[in-house]
Amino acid sequence: MIKKHHSDIKPSEITDKETYLNRRQFLQGGAALALGLGLPGCDASEPKLAAPPPASSRKKLASTKNGAFSINEAQTSYKDITRYNNFYEFSTDKAGPAKLSKAFVTRPWTLTVDGEVSKPQTFDIEDILKSFPLEERIYRLRCVEAWSMVIPWIGFPLADLIKKTDPTSRAKYVAFETLYDPKQMPGQQTGLFGSGLKWPYVEGLRIDEAMHPLTLLSVGLYGEVLANQNGAPIRLVVPWKYGFKSIKSIVKITLLEKQPPTTWNISAPREYGFYSNVNPKVPHPRWSQARERRIGEFSKRKTLMFNGYADQVTSLYTGMDLKKFY
Ligand code: MTE
Repeated sequence: MIKKHHSDIKPSEITDKETYLNRRQFLQGGAALALGLGLPGCDASEPKLAAPPPASSRKKLASTKNGAFSINEAQTSYKDITRYNNFYEFSTDKAGPAKLSKAFVTRPWTLTVDGEVSKPQTFDIEDILKSFPLEERIYRLRCVEAWSMVIPWIGFPLADLIKKTDPTSRAKYVAFETLYDPKQMPGQQTGLFGSGLKWPYVEGLRIDEAMHPLTLLSVGLYGEVLANQNGAPIRLVVPWKYGFKSIKSIVKITLLEKQPPTTWNISAPREYGFYSNVNPKVPHPRWSQARERRIGEFSKRKTLMFNGYADQVTSLYTGMDLKKFY
């Protein structure tokens, strides 16, 4: 197998998510045919999911329910939330992250906040868990691939962490970075079957989006410590944006004067913008965003503006052309 270093890959060779998934389905179909197994199910993107480990073996995490910030919709099953994942550092298959992240080491873990702050700090995850009161918030998660879930997250506002570092007046944007450790994260090793993404995974928000009370740093879900495949030990949740903004397993947060680069925008700039607000009126260049399938349901439902959080966030974008700033 020919292995390429990332620096050897031309931009024209970088595969965007949909092409990659299509190619993968084609390969899977081909492999299945070659083995005489017939074609995979009608929706190859939904693999048969393995059962989660028994609840008794999973670590509980106490929190106080925040009703004002929770939606009143049926929650997606624990099994689907923890077995149907996007975490390209481990796998591009939905069922892959749960299987391949089992040995992922999340202790010790530190999260550094630096850049345009007067008190840069490195927080230990244990101190984070002790210092910030944990809330449960039931949020919609809408993936750019037109499926959605309802997830009872446990976490605390990102604003509370950022405030501890005393941002300067030049802090206009916030950049986030996932751990880079190809030994633990097989998807970060480049090669023929790699995703073509540039590592580490990076994301960004404007400072007012980062400080918005809905923006959560999550450390758990369904009353338990976050499973590795969901972004343990700490991940972002921005409920009015497409799921790829909600970066997992964060090690660094940097406040900046200028807009930072973001992983999917680097990979396919025409398809994935910096803002990536859920917007049923702005289609992805290759598919509509008007409808979505709630995981666990058969028929599709209408996608809501800002994923249903319009009352809370529309004012952040006053005067902006949301087709231009997609
Ligand atoms: N963060 C990292 N580091 N790597 C990823 O591949 N995938 C994103 C986001 N965060 C991703 C990531 C995408 S596309 C989605 S839809 C959500 O995580 C999925 O989160 P979940 O698996 O917990 O539902």
